[in-house]
Amino acid sequence: MTASASDTAHRPRRSALYLPASNAKALAKARTLPCDVVVLDLEDAVAPEAKEEARAAAIAAVAEGGFGHREVAIRANGIDTEWGAADLAAIAGSQAAAVLVPKVNSPEDIARYDAALLGAAPQMQLWAMIETCESVGNLPRIAAMARTTRLSLWIMGTNDLAKEMRAQLTPCRTPFLPFLSMAVAAARAEGIAILDGVCNEFRDIDLFEAETRQGLMFGFDGKSLIHPAQIEPCNTVFSPSETDLAWAQAVIAAFALPENQGKGAIRVDGKMTELLHLEQARRLVEVAGLIQAMK
Ligand code: COA
Ligand code: MG
Repeated sequence: MTASASDTAHRPRRSALYLPASNAKALAKARTLPCDVVVLDLEDAVAPEAKEEARAAAIAAVAEGGFGHREVAIRANGIDTEWGAADLAAIAGSQAAAVLVPKVNSPEDIARYDAALLGAAPQMQLWAMIETCESVGNLPRIAAMARTTRLSLWIMGTNDLAKEMRAQLTPCRTPFLPFLSMAVAAARAEGIAILDGVCNEFRDIDLFEAETRQGLMFGFDGKSLIHPAQIEPCNTVFSPSETDLAWAQAVIAAFALPENQGKGAIRVDGKMTELLHLEQARRLVEVAGLIQAMK
């Protein structure tokens, strides 16, 4: 038995902070920061000469614990790199919540990573970076691997995608919009959680907030982050607002009225409201409750 996508799909993952596992100071700081997820990176953020040290530091940090409610993932190097097999073996033997694997192109890649985790704890999840041109045509098939493997979450890798496409990563992210929305739809079709890519401009919080709101609009569960200053604004954007909750409560109350029993469509606050909106309203209230419970 492995952790299925549905076991973990409702967990709040508004903010997922990356840090190079080779950075001891960042590792210590991550235990005190209000992010929902910590991703200890062994891949892009770690130079080749620091790979072994970073792996040892990540495994030691997970063993030491102290991350509280934060879900801890370790991002491995690709399975075909010189560090991949050792990373996967070390992570499989750890108590990390998830292994995040880079540059997934196809369902076959997911099968290979899943096989490498054969001996891992049953609850260890497989998370995948969606960041290559080849993955674009394979999104539904990659997502369908959640039915039979540990796959439960995707993170968009917009920096790698920009590099491969030779596209420009501008504030409005125009070149990536079709890909981002197709990825959200493919993930949702299989109950996979999905997080937006990073915003490199960590000194410009207004720009960051605008990009984060764009991610919320697309339906992402949260956003991957590179700097502590991005956490609070990200948590705010991805938490149901007072207005959202007031709407949700009004919808739930309206459908509970005796005169609305058995109806599929009613009027709430002057707007057509259907049973599908009731489902959305219940989900918002549930998410708000889960966020409250984490505090
Ligand atoms: N996680 C935890 N702590 C972090 C952090 C992170 N991602 N980024 C910065 N910090 C800490 C610093 O250690 C510093 O701590 P201090 O106040 O105790 O000294 C504080 O936050 C302020 O850092 P700052 O000086 O503003 O940033 P910097 O110039 O040192 O680092 C980056 C900038 C971008 C190099 C750094 O934020 C980073 O490495 N981010 C993650 C990169 C990454 O993992 N990329 C892979 C995925 S895209
Ligand atoms: Mg990458």
